[in-house]
Amino acid sequence: MAVQIKPLSDALGAEVIGLDLSQPLAADDDAAVQDAFLEHHLLCFRGAPLRPADFANVARQFGEPQAQLLRSQRDAETQEVSILDSTYARPEDKPQDLRQMRLTGWHTDDSYFEVPAKATLLQSIEIPDSGGQTSFCNTQRAYEDLDTAEKQRVDGLRAAHRYDTPRAPVRPKTRTQSELDETPEVVHPLVRTHEDTGRKAFYFNANRTDRVMDVAPADSEAILEWIAGCMTQPCYRYDHEWRVGDLLIWDNRCLVHAVNMDFPVGQRRLHQRILLQGSRPV
Ligand SMILES: [Fe+2]
Repeated sequence: MAVQIKPLSDALGAEVIGLDLSQPLAADDDAAVQDAFLEHHLLCFRGAPLRPADFANVARQFGEPQAQLLRSQRDAETQEVSILDSTYARPEDKPQDLRQMRLTGWHTDDSYFEVPAKATLLQSIEIPDSGGQTSFCNTQRAYEDLDTAEKQRVDGLRAAHRYDTPRAPVRPKTRTQSELDETPEVVHPLVRTHEDTGRKAFYFNANRTDRVMDVAPADSEAILEWIAGCMTQPCYRYDHEWRVGDLLIWDNRCLVHAVNMDFPVGQRRLHQRILLQGSRPV
């Protein structure tokens, strides 16, 4: 059966049907999947949870995996796989105000690196009975829908990204000295051009973007707030309801994502993740 690509929403995303991910992709299927990735920005493959080594083999069909910053989350045997456990073990782990959970902030993975990951693969291993969706917004379409004057307001601007910024409502996980050494402040364009398609997209991370360069602080805040509002409108958004074994791959160059952290205490929410090497945003 030829591979089928079925859109998941009007905003972004498609489900890929008819592929066996445990086998290397045939040339035709590979081309169809790569085209669909660039067109829809997020692909969903349904299946069963993979062993970390098999998950890494799937990732290599899309790019070059890279180990994530925090050593404590890396899988012991397959270093490029991180195990992400967002379970609330005890009632006191779940705050009243869920904005205190950093995963609820709209972000693009690893933007605090000079060379951020181009894509993320995330597979669910266990999911709660309710809540816990991962949501995505299409920052390419949000940018493209601006009028000329609005585009001129942001084109050419650059912004500083920090592992920790006071703009985020809560502090991130602490870093070891070597992790600190690897994460100095970096500067990226606020509108980046996709190296595979030539299309422009907002590149803003609510958890990491600290300020717009070369403008007054009040102007920086106004610009960042405006971008955040533009790109998270409902027409640009898709909410993914996880099933066990869903494997998503998404494009960090033109999407942001956030997690609905409202799910029952004591029910496990466990994923495995691989980041794919990217290139310096331009
Ligand atoms: Fe993320």
